[in-house]
Order: sequence, then C-alpha cells, then structure tokens
Amino acid sequence: MRRYVIAGNWKMNKTLEEGHSLIQDIKNMYTTGPDIIICPPFTHLESTAKAIKGTAIKLGAQNMSEHNSGALTGEISADMLVSVGVQYVILGHSERRAIFHETNTTINLKVKQAIAHDLSPILCVGETLEQRVANDTFSCVEAQVKEGLLGISKESLLDQNVILAYEPVWAIGTGKVASPQQAQAVHAHIRRTLTDLYDSDLAQTLRIQYGGSVKPDNAKELFGQTDIDGALVGGACLDALSFAGIINA
Ligand code: PGA
Repeated sequence: MRRYVIAGNWKMNKTLEEGHSLIQDIKNMYTTGPDIIICPPFTHLESTAKAIKGTAIKLGAQNMSEHNSGALTGEISADMLVSVGVQYVILGHSERRAIFHETNTTINLKVKQAIAHDLSPILCVGETLEQRVANDTFSCVEAQVKEGLLGISKESLLDQNVILAYEPVWAIGTGKVASPQQAQAVHAHIRRTLTDLYDSDLAQTLRIQYGGSVKPDNAKELFGQTDIDGALVGGACLDALSFAGIINA
C-alpha cells in the first residue's frame, strides 16, 4: 500500500513573517492523514524546521546544487539543506527546466547528489502543451524519467523513498487541471517505464504525485485514480484553508 503524500511548493512567495503565520495555520489544521511535506523558500527552511518540530509534517527544499561546495555564488548544497533539517528536495521542476535551463543530465546529477546525502528527491516530469498536441506526452515523460534516474539503483530509490511528480506544464498555475483520466494515463505510463527500467515491485512501490492546478474541489477525483498517490501543490498551498482542503480530500 502506497501512502498518499501531499507536498506544498511555496515557490518564491511569502516573507518570513507571512510564512511563519501560514505554517502555524497549517499546523493547527493538520491532525493525521497523508504524509505532508512543506517546501518553503531557502530563507524560511530553518525557522520552518523549528515550527514543525514534534509534528508529522516534513520539510522540503525547492532546488539544490549538484555540487558539494565551492565557488558557486547563489547555490545551496545538499549538506546545507541537511544541516537545517531538510529531508526532501524538489528536483527538475518545470520552472527550473524552462526558466533556468536545467537539463535531464543536470537533474540526474542532482538526484544522485540528493540520494548520496540522504535527501529524498521529488523528481518532477511533465510535457509542454506543444508536446501534448504533437502526441509526444508519453515519449517526453518517459525520457525525463529514464534520464533523470540514469545510473541509480532500485535499492537507492527504495531506501531514499524517492517520489516522482507528474506535472503537465500546461496545467501549472494556469487553472487548467489535467482531467483525472489524462493524469491517470500518464501515471500508468510512468509505472510501465519504471517496470521496464527496474521491475514491477519498484514500479508499484514508488509514489507518483500529480501537480498542476490542484485545488480542494478537484483533488478528490484525482486521488481516486489508481496510480495517483497525492499532489504537488503550488498556488493552493499558499492558503492554509485550501491546502487543508486538499489534505482532507
Ligand atoms: P500550481 O503549481 O498548483 O500552482 O499549478 C504546481 C507546481 O508547480 O508544483
């Protein structure tokens, strides 16, 4: 049985004070249920770690360098994240791919770096609107999974509880959610790809989140799909009530 996992990606939103009040509200609303991961900006990680101490809520970062340390102005290393209590890290988000030109090769190095430092990657994959229209959804997502996980053993993926997130780029922040059937079809294809790469045991064990305009009113139907194990939430996680609505779904 795979446990549902809901992650909230704050992106570049909230001052420290606003973030603190959001986390207090989330704490007050959350009792038990799915696994919850909060991914605030880097500047909020340490205080968020303190705020969620003693709760079941986990802490994630939104990105990380593939390098250990050195003259890399503006970058944040795996060791730095671990040192403030981070357990998860979002890697290969479509905004990182599109705006910051991250390639499957770089993302693969980051996934390896995270695993080597005892961090659990949330590896994001997803097609653009052009790719969907050209019927390239499956091949695009398959390549992102294969290249993102290149050279990583089944044992590492299982030991580190690696999570995948299917996020169609055309559905992120646009209000255009993939239909539950569209999302399910791609999730099933990701499991087929994992079966080809590893085996069905691994494919049935790894959790695959859906992301892209998830809201309290569409979450339940998405989570009802066989291969959808939760959500990576952007906009709707910035408000405690709507994030709680998704968690309750
Ligand atoms: P959204 O973002 O929920 O605002 O569409 C999802 C994401 O980018 O992870």
